[in-house]
Amino acid sequence: MDRIRIVGGNALNGIIPISGAKNAALPLMIASLLTSDTLTLENVPHLADVENLLRILGNHGVDISVNGRREHQDGSYSRTVHFTCRTIADTTAPYELVSKMRASFWVIGPLLARCGQARVSLPGGCAIGTRPVDLFIEGLQALGAEMEIDSGYINAKAPEGGLIGARYTFPKVSVGATHVMLMAASLARGTTVIGNAAREPEVVDLANCLIAMGAKISGAGTSTITIEGVTSLSGARHRVLPDRIETGTYAMAVAMTGGDVTLSGTDISLLDTAIEAIRRAGAEVSAVEGGIRVIGHGDQIRPVDIVTEPYPGFPTDLQAQFMGLMTRAQGVSHVTETIFENRFMHVQELARLGAKITLNGQTARIEGVSRLRGAPVMATDLRASVSLVIAGLAAEGETMVSRVYHLDRGFERLEEKLTRCGAIVERISD
Ligand code: EPZ
Repeated sequence: MDRIRIVGGNALNGIIPISGAKNAALPLMIASLLTSDTLTLENVPHLADVENLLRILGNHGVDISVNGRREHQDGSYSRTVHFTCRTIADTTAPYELVSKMRASFWVIGPLLARCGQARVSLPGGCAIGTRPVDLFIEGLQALGAEMEIDSGYINAKAPEGGLIGARYTFPKVSVGATHVMLMAASLARGTTVIGNAAREPEVVDLANCLIAMGAKISGAGTSTITIEGVTSLSGARHRVLPDRIETGTYAMAVAMTGGDVTLSGTDISLLDTAIEAIRRAGAEVSAVEGGIRVIGHGDQIRPVDIVTEPYPGFPTDLQAQFMGLMTRAQGVSHVTETIFENRFMHVQELARLGAKITLNGQTARIEGVSRLRGAPVMATDLRASVSLVIAGLAAEGETMVSRVYHLDRGFERLEEKLTRCGAIVERISD
């Protein structure tokens, strides 16, 4: 199993190209099931989760062709993928595939809308929390589907003639359930109004792609989305939006190590709340042409309290990284997690580097220390593991991160991007 070795202490200086967003690419790829024409996605990141979903979509009958090439001198890499699903080969998404990646459950929306039926394995819990699917079931039931749970699977069946538009208000904000309702309602008969919809940029990206495919959607990015169903969708060409979580992660890394880095190919407006928190912590962050410039001062980090919330609040996917930054603040800060009940697995590992963190329910109290020292640590989930990388970059001596496959799910060419900016980071394959 691969490990990542980091020798901390170097400031980061240079350019880091930001990849296409994993969490936009996944639902966009799934949207290819909605049409028999070709959907072309540009800026698709090369990540374990994406490769996994390519295999899953292949299973449902999607024909896939991939073109990848190195683009610019800043090291950015561009991947364009063509998806063509002339006919759905299989409306079942089996346990072996869905249990590997929760987002693959989302195929339930397009399968149901296009074929009138789907049998999809329940995804089960995962390391960061129980993550139920009640909102998907209720939402699709509102569109007229019969939803039955049988032997660990959901059997979904649309009424004769297809799904029917309806008004449905989510009792809780869910990104995935909003994606699924958008896809399902696009091919339903009549108008659907989704209340308390997720407002994440990835939802807007999916809506924009569906609109390019011929869907009639308004209000994406607000909490009320209206979809007028159409009888069929066509192909389209769409560029995956930049990864705001990768952007925020590297911005926090620079805030922690010090240095001057331009994050290219990204957009500051995707992560206002996180940028505000990074600025309050003492780093200078500004929009520059084609990206964001971050100047960090390393030793003078100010303590900042944050609470994770659905967009536009502080993202749960940046919580671990921000906690990493706060371990070296000059004072006490608090980090409160409100989205997932078990997203503090990095706390014990950060403590191995010398961080002082105490947990009280969903709030962590972090007492900043003047230095961290490298140590062997273990990655537990995707975002938790990158917080250990950030902390390792700022720690004295060597940090060895094991179980790197978590990182490979969501950070494209991490070692290369950091090394180009002066960090000492290498992958060790055993
Ligand atoms: C998406 O997950 C992201 N994943 C997550 O990123 C992200 O942390 C999360 O949104 C929140 O922003 C992808 O986009 C692939 P939710 P999702 O449904 O859609 C509860 C990463 O590291 N809930 O918005 O699965 C749920 O348990 C990943 O890239 C129900 O109660 O998240 C959670 O507490 C991790 N019932 C809350 O809602 C349901 O039916 C928000 O989850 C569905 C969700």
